[in-house]
Amino acid sequence: MLTNRPRGTNDILPGQVERWQSLEGKIRRLCREYGYGEIRTPIFEHTILFNRGVGETTDVVEKEMYTFMDRGKSSLTLRPEATAAIVRAYIENGMYGQPQPIKLFLLGPMFRYDRPQAGRFRQFHQFDVEVLGTRDPLLDVELIALANSFCQQAGLKEWELHINSVGCPTCRTEHRKGLREYVYNVRGSLCEDCQRRLETNPMRVLDCKNEKCQRLTVNAPTPVDYLCDTCAEHFAAVKRGLEEMEVAYQVDKRLVRGLDYYTMTAFELMVPGIGAQNSIGGGGRYDGLVEACGGPPTPGVGFAFGMERVLLALEEQRGEAPNTAGLEVYVGTLEPGARIPAMKLLNQLRSLGIAADMDYLGRSLKAQMKAAGKSGAPLVVIVGGDELGRGAVTVRQMDKAKQEEVSLDQAGQYLLARLVGMRHKVEEW
Ligand code: HAM
Repeated sequence: MLTNRPRGTNDILPGQVERWQSLEGKIRRLCREYGYGEIRTPIFEHTILFNRGVGETTDVVEKEMYTFMDRGKSSLTLRPEATAAIVRAYIENGMYGQPQPIKLFLLGPMFRYDRPQAGRFRQFHQFDVEVLGTRDPLLDVELIALANSFCQQAGLKEWELHINSVGCPTCRTEHRKGLREYVYNVRGSLCEDCQRRLETNPMRVLDCKNEKCQRLTVNAPTPVDYLCDTCAEHFAAVKRGLEEMEVAYQVDKRLVRGLDYYTMTAFELMVPGIGAQNSIGGGGRYDGLVEACGGPPTPGVGFAFGMERVLLALEEQRGEAPNTAGLEVYVGTLEPGARIPAMKLLNQLRSLGIAADMDYLGRSLKAQMKAAGKSGAPLVVIVGGDELGRGAVTVRQMDKAKQEEVSLDQAGQYLLARLVGMRHKVEEW
C-alpha cells in the first residue's frame, strides 16, 4: 500500500506532463477566441448538489460518487463532473444578474468510483465548457463547433460527432409512455439494470450496452419520434446551423447520455481504436438544471472532454510524441577545473530561456555524454581543455554527430539560433 497509488489513479510524470500542458495551452487559446472565461470551483461540494443536479437515479449518483462526512458534520462529495458545480457557482455568485449569456470553461480533476479499465479511471480530468442564459440554438451550434475545433486543434485525425434531441419534459413524458408500452411484453427478458431503469429513467434502456437488451429494443421508439413543435424546431435549427458551419455530424436517435439533466440537444464525440471507452467527450442542453439547483429559471448548454481519453486517442492516431521532457542543452565538462565556467555558461543559457543542465555526479566525459544522450537534449556543449584556454567551447548536435567550435561569448546566441527549428518540431505534435 505504501508504494502503490490507489486503483484507477495515475501519476503524470515529466515527459508526459508536457503533452498535458500543450493540450491545456491549446484549450486556453481556443476558449479565449470563442469568448469563454476560465472558472475554478472546489474539488468537493455538498453531496445534495450532485444528487439534485446529476440525478438520484443515474449511475454516477447511485454507484460512483466518493462521498464522505465532513468531520461528522455534513455530507460532501468529490466532484464527479463539473456542470452541477458550475451551475452552483453561477447561482451563488449572482452571475444571472450580469449580461447573459455567461460563457465559462473549467479544467480539472473529477472522481468516479467505477471499474478501472483502458480509458476509465477513478480520478480523471475534464475540459468542461458551459454557457448559461440563452436558449438560442445557434449557441448549441457554436458550442458543438467549439468541441469540433478542439478535436482539430488537439491534432486528432479522425473522430465522429453524434447528435440527438432528447426533448423537453413534456415530450419526454410522451416518449416514456410509448417506450414502456413497447417493451411491456419483453421487460422480463431485459437485464436487471434495464428493468430498474424502466421504473426510474426508461430512456436509458436505449443506451444499454447489453446485446440482448439492444436486440429487444432495436425498433423501440426514440425521443425524436415524440418531439413537440418547439423541440423539433430547435433540433432542426441546430442541424441546419451545423451544416452551414460545415461541421460533419450523424444523427444517433438512440443517444440519450447518462446524466439526468439533459433537455433537447445531446451529443457525443467518439474516436475509433481506443477500446470500449471510445467516447472522448459529450454534452448537451440542460434548460431545467439551474432552477432545480435553486436558481432562477435559466437555460444552459455545455460539454466535457476527458483529457486522458483525448491523449490516448492522440497517441493512437499520431504515435509517440517527440521528446518534450524539456532539456535542450547538456553542458559537459572535460576536467574538474571546467565546472565553474560550465556553471556560468549554464546560468547564461537559462537566462536566455534555454533549458540546460550539467553533471552533478563527478562523472567522466564519456559517462556525461551517455547521460546527455539519455536526457534527450538535442545539443551538447563541452567545456574545458585547450578550447577553454582560447575562450571557446565545443557544440555538438546529437542527431548529426557534428561538432563545431564556438566562442564562449557567442555560445548563448549561437545555441538559441540552433534551437529555433527544433522547438518548432515539438510544438507540432
Ligand atoms: P460525461 O459524458 O459523464 O459528461 O463525461 C464527459 C467525458 O469525461 C467522457 O466523454 C469521457 O471522455 C470523460 N470521462 C467520464 N468518466 C470517465 C472516467 N471514469 N475515466 C476517464 N474519463 C472519463 C459529463 O461529465 C457532463 N458534465 C458533460 C456536460 C457538460 N454536459 C453539459 N455540460
